[in-house]
Amino acid sequence: MKAILTTGALLCAMTAFAQVPQLNRNNIDEVLKAMTLEEKITLVVGANRYVGDENGPGPAPGMPERKSVDMSGLVEQPKSDGVTAFSSGRVKGAAGDVVPVERLGITTMVLADGPAGLRIDAVRPGDDNTYFCTAFPIGSLLSASWDTGLVERVTAAMGNEVLEYGADVLLAPAMNIHRNPLCGRNFEYYSEDPLLAGKIAAAYVRGVQGNGVGTSVKHFAANSQETLRNGQNASVSERALREIYLKGFEIVVKEAQPWTIMSSYNKINGVLSSENRWLLTDVLRGEWGFKGFVMTDWWAEENGARQIAAGNDMLMPGTPHQYDDILDAVQSGRLDIRFLDDCVRRILQVMVESPTFKRYAYSNKPDLAAHAQVTREAAAQGMVLLKNESALPLVRKSKVALFGVPSYDTMVGGSGSGYVNRAYKVTVDAGLEAAGFRLDKQLAESYRDYVKHEKAKQPAEYFWIIPTVQETLISREVAQAAAKRNEVCVYSIGRMAGEGGDRTLTPGDWYLSETEQANIDLLCETFHKAGKKVIVLLNMGNIVDMGWSDQPDAILHTWMDGQEAGNSVADILAGKVSPSGKLPMTIAKSYEDYSSAKDFPMSNGNPGDVNYDEDIFVGYRHFDRHPETILYPFGFGLSYTDFAYSDLKAEREGDELKISVKVTNTGKRPGREAVQIYVGAPAGNAVKPVKELRAFGKTSELKPGASEVLTMTVKLADLRWFDAYEQAWKLDAGEYVISAAASSRDIRQNVTVTL
Ligand code: BGC
Repeated sequence: MKAILTTGALLCAMTAFAQVPQLNRNNIDEVLKAMTLEEKITLVVGANRYVGDENGPGPAPGMPERKSVDMSGLVEQPKSDGVTAFSSGRVKGAAGDVVPVERLGITTMVLADGPAGLRIDAVRPGDDNTYFCTAFPIGSLLSASWDTGLVERVTAAMGNEVLEYGADVLLAPAMNIHRNPLCGRNFEYYSEDPLLAGKIAAAYVRGVQGNGVGTSVKHFAANSQETLRNGQNASVSERALREIYLKGFEIVVKEAQPWTIMSSYNKINGVLSSENRWLLTDVLRGEWGFKGFVMTDWWAEENGARQIAAGNDMLMPGTPHQYDDILDAVQSGRLDIRFLDDCVRRILQVMVESPTFKRYAYSNKPDLAAHAQVTREAAAQGMVLLKNESALPLVRKSKVALFGVPSYDTMVGGSGSGYVNRAYKVTVDAGLEAAGFRLDKQLAESYRDYVKHEKAKQPAEYFWIIPTVQETLISREVAQAAAKRNEVCVYSIGRMAGEGGDRTLTPGDWYLSETEQANIDLLCETFHKAGKKVIVLLNMGNIVDMGWSDQPDAILHTWMDGQEAGNSVADILAGKVSPSGKLPMTIAKSYEDYSSAKDFPMSNGNPGDVNYDEDIFVGYRHFDRHPETILYPFGFGLSYTDFAYSDLKAEREGDELKISVKVTNTGKRPGREAVQIYVGAPAGNAVKPVKELRAFGKTSELKPGASEVLTMTVKLADLRWFDAYEQAWKLDAGEYVISAAASSRDIRQNVTVTL
C-alpha cells in the first residue's frame, strides 16, 4: 500500500513538473502565463535587492521591510560594509544580475560595465586565477578616429572578453552629447554632434554584439552633466531633443538594435527618464522600433510601479522598495499587470539569446595579448595633432627631455564605472624607450623617483578613485641643462576624469595650473633659445583651456589611450603612424564662448534645473555663427602629410543622396584622411544651423600620390528638421549645399542639390 501511494505521488509530481514550461525561444508567452506575480517582479527587479547580514537576507539599510523572496539560484557575495549582496555570483565585480526563476528555466543574466572595456574583479579571494580585462581607449578617442570600422574591431575584441568572462550584457556604449566641455563624463561620451556619436555608437554595438552578447546604450537621454545627476532637470525644447539629444540614440537603435538601453538619472522637462513613457515607449519603441529592453541606471529614483508603467523594463541593481512597490501597485490596481507583462516579455526575448541562457562554456581566457595589439593600434588612430610647426615626427630616434608627471604616470582611462581592471599600463616614458628614443636619464630618474615617492603616500587605485600625482615646478637650471643635453622637449599635461561630478572652471582643471603654465613658459623659453622644439601632449579624456597654444611648436591630443598608451604615443611621435584623428568637439578661445556656458551645470537661481536655452545651437552649430571665437574647430586635426579633395559629386537616387569625393595624398608621407560631409539646408520657415554634419568617411592609408574615392549615402529623411508645433519632421524645398570638408571650418568643395 505504502509503495503504491508513493508511486502515485511521484506520478502526480511528474505530471505537475511536465506542465511547467521551460523557457525557450518559442514559448515566451506560455512561460509568461505560467509565472506568478512574484516571479514576474523577481525578474524585473535586479538581484541586489537581496541584501542581508550574518543572520541571512533582509532589507537593505534604510529600506523598508520587503515581502517574501525566493532565494533559489542566488549566492552570497562577499560582504562590504557589513552588507551582503546576493547575485548569481558567477562573475565577480559585475555591476548587476538578473534574478533567475529556476522553476521555469529562466536563467540569470550578468550585466557588467563599461565603455572602455569590461569591468569585473581581476583578483578574487581564494582563487589563484586572474581575470584581467583589456583597457581600451576611452570614448572621445574612439570618436576622434572618425573610423567606424576601427571602432567595430575594437569592440569586437571587447565583446569577446564579455563572452569569455561569462557576462551577458556590456553596460556601454555611453553616448550623451558633449553639451559643455566641463561635463565630468565627456571622456566616456563621443561628441558635440549626434551623427558622429550615433554612427560611432552603432559601430560599437555591432562589434560587441557580433560576439552574441548584448550592449546597453546609455544614458537615455539628455544626461549631459553630472552635477545633481540623480534627478537634475533638463529643460529642453522638443526640437533640440529630437535633433540633438535623441538623434544619436535614434541612429544606434535603427542601425544596430542594441539588446538593451539604459535610461538616465535625470529628468527631461520635469519627468524622470526612467518614468517617461513618451521617451521609453512612444519614441523609442513606437517611432524607432527598438526591440530590446530598457534598464534603469543604477539606483535611479525608485518608484518601481511608475518605471514599469513607463516601459522601463528592468530596475537595476534592484531594491526591496521597488519590489514591494510593484507588488502593491498590481495588487491594489494602481498598475495594470499588462504593463508588467510587457516588461517581462521583453526581458525574456533578450534572455533567450544570451550566452548564460544558451549555457555557453566560457573560458575565462580571452586572448589578452591579441587585444593589447588592437588597443595599441586603435589609440594611435584617434590622437589629434592640433599644431605642428616642423616639430613632428621625430624621425631620428632623438634624445628627448621628457617632462611632466603624466609622462611618467600616464592616465590611460577614467574612474567610476568606466574603469577597467587591467593587468598593466604602458606609460609614455616606457613607450618612448621601447621605441628606441633616448630619454634624458637624469630627468627620467628624478620624475620616476618623485612619482614613486608620491604614490607610496596615496591609497591604491581602485575603480572609483584613481589618485593622481601633483605636477612639479621645473627649475630654470634643470630646464637649461636639459635643453643643452637633448634635441627636443616633450611635456605632458594630464587631467583625470570620472563619473559623479563635473569639472570646474579653476586652475588645474579647465585652466592650466600656475605650475603647468610656468613650466610651459620656462620650457618654451629655454628650448627655443637653444633652437630646439617643444611638444606638448594632452593626456586627458576631454579638453582644457588652450590660451597657451601659441607657445609650443607642436600639440598632440593623446586622450586616454588604454593600457598600451605609451606605445601608441610613441608610434605617433616616431612617425610610424601618421596622426589621422580629428576633434569630435570644438575647442573655443575661451570657456565663455560655449553656448551652454551660462546654464551649466545649473541655471542661475534654479538649483537642479538646467535651461538648454541654446537649443539646437550646440557645438559647431553655435560656433559657425561666431567663428571668431573658435581656436580649434570641430573636425580639425593635422597629419604628417597633406590631402587634396576633388570630384565631389552628390546625386539623388530615390530617397537618398549618393555622395562621392576623391581624396589624394599630395604630401610626402603615408596617411589617412577623415572627410566630413556637411549639408546647409534652405532656410524654409525655421531658424537653422549654417550647416550640419550628415556623413563622414575615412580613407585607408594612402601612400604619397595615391588617391581613394570615398562614397557615402545620406537619406533625404535625415536632412529634415523637427517642427515641434506641428509635431512633424520636415524637409524644406530648395537648394541644399553639400560640402566636403577637412574640418567644420575647412570646406574643400561644394556642390548643390535642389530638392
Ligand atoms: C553609471 C552607469 C553604470 C552603472 C553600473 C552608474 O553609476 O551611471 O553608467 O553602468 O553605474 O555600474
